[in-house]
Amino acid sequence: MSYDRRTVKMCVCHRKKFDNIRDEAKELGLESVDEIMAEGIACTGCGMCRPYVKKMLSTGETRFVPGDIYIKSES
Ligand code: FES
Repeated sequence: MSYDRRTVKMCVCHRKKFDNIRDEAKELGLESVDEIMAEGIACTGCGMCRPYVKKMLSTGETRFVPGDIYIKSES
């Protein structure tokens, strides 16, 4: 997987990087996008980041190739 300037790495509406969202969520014990939204940490604007934040919560990844989350794995 290669990353470049198009790499998805933040919630643009909240101007907050996924690294920081992950750390805040961990600190507060939040385990879902809904919980992150309820705390007003991220994802409450346009919603484009929600699938990425969901994947971040399950994998710990904080950088994504645009659209990659929509491609089904072959496993
Ligand atoms: S990019 Fe996260 S709510 Fe818009």
